[in-house]
Amino acid sequence: MSNNTTTTKPRTSLSRHRSVWEMRSDGWISLVDHLSRSAILQPDDPERERRMALVRQICETLAPIEGYWAFPGGRVFGELCQWIEREELARAHQAARRIHRVLAARTYRHDSSALESDNELPSQIETDSERLAQLSRPYFEVLIVDEMSATEEDALRRRVQRKRSPDDDFVFDIVVVPTFEDALIATLVNFNLQAVVIRHGFPFRSVNHNDMLRRFLDGVDESIEQMPEFERGPLLGQQIAQLRPELDLYLVTDVSVEDIAARVGEVFKRIFFGEEDHIELYSSIMKGVGERHRTPFFQALRDYAKQPTGVFHALPLARGKAIMNSSWIGDLAQFYGMNLFMAETSATSGGLDSLLDPVGPLKLAQEYAARAFGARRTFFATNGTSTCNKIVVQALVRPDDIVLVDRNCHKSHHYGLVLAGAQVAYLDSYPLDQYSMYGAVPVRHIKETLLGFRRAGTLDRVRMVLLTNCTFDGIVYDVERVMLECLAIKPDLVFLWDEAWFAFARCHPIYRQRTGMAAAARLAEMFKDPAYARRQAAFAASIDWDDDEALLNARLLPDPARARVRVYATHSTHKTLTALRQGSMIHVWDQDFKDKAEEAFHEAYMTHTSTSPNYQILASLDVGRRQVELEGYELIQRQLELAMSLREQVLRHPLLKRYFRFLSVVDVVPEAYRESGVQSYYNDENGWANLESAWRTDEFALDPTRATLSIGATGLDGDSFKNKELMDKYGIQINKTSRNTVLFMTNIGTTRSAVAYLIEVLVKIARDVDARVADMSAIERRIHEKRVRSLTLEQPPLPDFSSFHFAFRGRSVEGRAETRDGDIRSAFFLSYDDSNCEYVDMAEAARAIAAGRELVSALFVIPYPPGFPILVPGQVISAEILQFMAALDVREIHGFRPELGFRIFSDAALQRAAQATAARAALAVADRAAQPPQVPLAPDGAEPELATTSQTTRKSTSRSKK
Ligand SMILES: Cc1ncc(COP(=O)(O)O)c(C=O)c1O
Repeated sequence: MSNNTTTTKPRTSLSRHRSVWEMRSDGWISLVDHLSRSAILQPDDPERERRMALVRQICETLAPIEGYWAFPGGRVFGELCQWIEREELARAHQAARRIHRVLAARTYRHDSSALESDNELPSQIETDSERLAQLSRPYFEVLIVDEMSATEEDALRRRVQRKRSPDDDFVFDIVVVPTFEDALIATLVNFNLQAVVIRHGFPFRSVNHNDMLRRFLDGVDESIEQMPEFERGPLLGQQIAQLRPELDLYLVTDVSVEDIAARVGEVFKRIFFGEEDHIELYSSIMKGVGERHRTPFFQALRDYAKQPTGVFHALPLARGKAIMNSSWIGDLAQFYGMNLFMAETSATSGGLDSLLDPVGPLKLAQEYAARAFGARRTFFATNGTSTCNKIVVQALVRPDDIVLVDRNCHKSHHYGLVLAGAQVAYLDSYPLDQYSMYGAVPVRHIKETLLGFRRAGTLDRVRMVLLTNCTFDGIVYDVERVMLECLAIKPDLVFLWDEAWFAFARCHPIYRQRTGMAAAARLAEMFKDPAYARRQAAFAASIDWDDDEALLNARLLPDPARARVRVYATHSTHKTLTALRQGSMIHVWDQDFKDKAEEAFHEAYMTHTSTSPNYQILASLDVGRRQVELEGYELIQRQLELAMSLREQVLRHPLLKRYFRFLSVVDVVPEAYRESGVQSYYNDENGWANLESAWRTDEFALDPTRATLSIGATGLDGDSFKNKELMDKYGIQINKTSRNTVLFMTNIGTTRSAVAYLIEVLVKIARDVDARVADMSAIERRIHEKRVRSLTLEQPPLPDFSSFHFAFRGRSVEGRAETRDGDIRSAFFLSYDDSNCEYVDMAEAARAIAAGRELVSALFVIPYPPGFPILVPGQVISAEILQFMAALDVREIHGFRPELGFRIFSDAALQRAAQATAARAALAVADRAAQPPQVPLAPDGAEPELATTSQTTRKSTSRSKK
């Protein structure tokens, strides 16, 4: 069984969430409405009969859903239904209205006496003092998986209530479900859950036949039904842990507790034997939630703020002293409140801690963050992901190491790679010319590039693959696949996933599977699994490892004996979760961290981290982590819901759809990368059911919470739409635009009213455009149509990375410049000396290129939008790049001075650079010849198939002799 359980993944469907939550809320609204009308109609009125039929229908729909929530609870709901059956409508209406009000306002979390005034509906609160205490105590629910009678369930609920004490930090209620399937549905539906208690022995199948709820179970392994009952508990624990790893799981079993603890102890927080430990279980549940609730650094800062201190140190603003004594700047304290200044200090002792050498609350806060984000270690940063990226690159990359990086990555990577002195091999993302956007880098292209280095004999120098996941526009990689295939070619590669925009992904099972940390954990499990080793051995024997084309066409599997799991992810916590601006984290899942990276990481961290890190940012990271662990799932699910609603409303609105269209997955992920064949994540028939299958299988998926609106049909370009319409007229802020699109990002702070306002604004803009077009003269109309055509149909093709100039390009072991990598650092610093550079304007450049001269950029040239460098230092300016520049109608192009043109290197400077590169390459060859041969990575001493220096060198030499 153990193999079976460790590999079984729950494949529950999440697509119906939206409908279930919405259905519940709509159900209560309609129930109250129909009851209110029916209660005042005469019994023989046909309208009353019609409405009562609807009421019964709603009750039938709500009954199974209410069973998964503690409030109002299955029993109270059952009573309500009985009143309805007995046609006690006034009473039923009053109760339904009160329940609905409490549900909508969510006051049951603090005041479950909300139903009390009815007296007939049970109160769950016992004393006044407890009620008062509850106001300051967060509420949660505990799922109990056990087959119980209604009486037993009531007895258990009463027992839990009796245990409550005014000293408790939290208050919880229980939800009891009788089967394996119900437990999975409850886990996905009920976001109030914080803990699950799985009792020994329970049936598999739910009696619930509601279609919508059953769809949550699409893909659940039916064979579980055949398993002995006592095996189901551990298995259920594993499946719940995959769906919502933040939940605390407890197993109460009657069979050998020691044996089960040894097998599945990791999944469960604690395993109890039979009924022996009720008090322990209650306090374990409280303690478990308390551990996630604790924010060690925030607490330390609050404690510090309360202490009387004398400041003979830096920071006169600390404790508000410099402000309170001032006649002129008191408004600063008035605006922010004194606590901000009471918590400002440069002290690192007295209960506080130092970010540069944490040993106290900051160390703990980072450990908790590692737990929350599934990392082995986490480091906080107070200077944004821009700094995190530079730290990781500097820590892992030595001068001359080769790094594969997507060219449209954030600029911090380009600068980080310059500082590290890396040989940069830029990868091309697939272009989306029609929208002036890039997609992401196909795995085939990454493999091709790696194999290019293998042919050149320099694969051993390839250190890192660095990719943006997800992209600004919401394209998400199949992270696990990319790492598997790359590790098959180069088993010790390090991966840096720039997840600046993807910190929230950890909170939700659909997103989580495509994060660097989750994929790293899965690879580590996989490489330990004997079944994987057998599968890989069979694969390895079936493929010709010398045949590049075969390797490109196959789904490669790395040798588990040689592959290392070395994964880093950087998060702008502040972008998608709760943290003050610049609050970011570096997450590490590197099995070689201690041996190969720790010291260098420490140095890199010191290089880039301020010695005066902002404590408020650090405290906000600590609290943001708490939110992730306690309500992240709910927040992300709601965000997803809102984004879906926004997309649907534009899709359906007759006026909006004339001018606007949210790009869907077919627009941004070409067919070749959609193995699922899914054309759209949403359709009227299946709702969002396709989303999950696409996210499970496709090479690239689209994050629907990033909604790119195509606006070309309005005749306005992205920049004007953003500034003149959205911002100036309606105060709506957005970040990214392309020539004919604007990107709306929803986040955990997005509200239903914000979405409604956006829709309202879009309708107003569409009406304005309508009116403007209607008023146009014939000539004006022709101009407008030409503009629309240009915006919708005539986009300049996006240029690929041309190449580094020979002077900067990497050399093969034989000295040839045949690989993509370039020495960007030398090019960058060469341009510091004006005498190495000259300027050419666009026209001159076009003529020179046509005449065969190679023009080489001395600078990064970055047009906004789209905001990625179309030229980097050392890169050859191609005719395609010039055409793209000429067609761009943007005002802001960094690195290009309209009055002077491109800053390029002089021929003399290029010659000197080429000599320096050749000399360095010769030195590297000599250096390598002097080194002892590399020890093969295979543990049995067998010659490895791929990737060691000696072998790749030999292979490429033999190939070149042919
Ligand atoms: C992909 C990516 N990485 C890194 C960053 C930098 O993040 P920060 O603003 O936290 O420094 C950004 C900023 O927009 C980004 O888009």
